[in-house]
Amino acid sequence: MTVAFGLKERAAAGIGARKVPFSSVPVIDLGPLSGTDRAAKQRTAAAIGRACEEIGFIYIANHGVPQDLIEHTFAEARRFFALPLAEKSKIPIANSKNFRGYFPLKGETTDVTAMGDLKEGFDLMRELGPDDPDVRTGKPLHGPNQWPSEDVLPGFRQSILAYYAAMEALAQRLLRGMALSLDLDEGFFAGKTQKALAYLRLLHYPPQQGMIDEREIGCGAHSDYGCLTILAQDEVGGLQLRNSAGEWIEAPPIPGTFVINLGDQMARWTNERFQATPHRVINRSGRERYSIPFFFDPDFDAVIECLPSCQGPGNPPKHAPITGGEHLLSMLKATFK
Ligand code: OGA
Ligand code: NI
Repeated sequence: MTVAFGLKERAAAGIGARKVPFSSVPVIDLGPLSGTDRAAKQRTAAAIGRACEEIGFIYIANHGVPQDLIEHTFAEARRFFALPLAEKSKIPIANSKNFRGYFPLKGETTDVTAMGDLKEGFDLMRELGPDDPDVRTGKPLHGPNQWPSEDVLPGFRQSILAYYAAMEALAQRLLRGMALSLDLDEGFFAGKTQKALAYLRLLHYPPQQGMIDEREIGCGAHSDYGCLTILAQDEVGGLQLRNSAGEWIEAPPIPGTFVINLGDQMARWTNERFQATPHRVINRSGRERYSIPFFFDPDFDAVIECLPSCQGPGNPPKHAPITGGEHLLSMLKATFK
């Protein structure tokens, strides 16, 4: 049985919004976030905040990223995964102490109780050269990417880095809206994400047929680790979200939108006011599926500790402070064997 509480009652009971199971995900127009109409901007920020509390997922429309750039990036992803396995295997993630490069089918286990994901991927982070101060001091997760050679995939590196830059700008815009909805200074998160641990992945999910064992699916049930995720999915579908009643809700592709969701670090930051909603992928379409998630996490040394607006008498911090780097490293070590 489910009971529909009003917001006030929920707050008084101290149980948060997660007790109301959602059945769909809202589409929010981001336009007003960069406009000059203050009231419209506040309304958009409030809508984002509400969706973050009640669902943990949002579709964003009017996001400003050119459709051409998105389509071109998908085309690059298809070009990359179509390479022979021997070629892709020249840049294995296992060779990178910074978790960058190619991983094959079952190379990652997102749900650590399951059997490995039926997806292959290519991961990259901020492109840093040997002269970068953090690379010089050997700070974990800072370093070069592994790219396929320019002869094999001309223009690939440049295209992917252009998309990475567009995602980073969009993440900053979203975080300004989230900050407003949390009664913070609009630039609060910008101060914590100056050299953000921002992670881009190209993913390829082959189709699965017949009886599908939940322990062997495209992407096992998990919540994301970081702050926020911007997901581009192709037209194939297969993404599912778990609501508080334990039901799996489809999040089908909607043309012209990205799917936004929150990760564990944002849940910690907001004392679980914002939800890191579990999700998974099962590709029953009979077709190849491609997706491009971008994970935006705070700086390595940024301390993630309960925000003032998310605690009070009767609502003490649920998590100890942790740094962005510490948190991300522990999760990556658990999912890549
Ligand atoms: C992920 C993820 C969803 C997708 O990589 O964390 O949830 O559609 N991906 O690929
Ligand atoms: Ni995810």
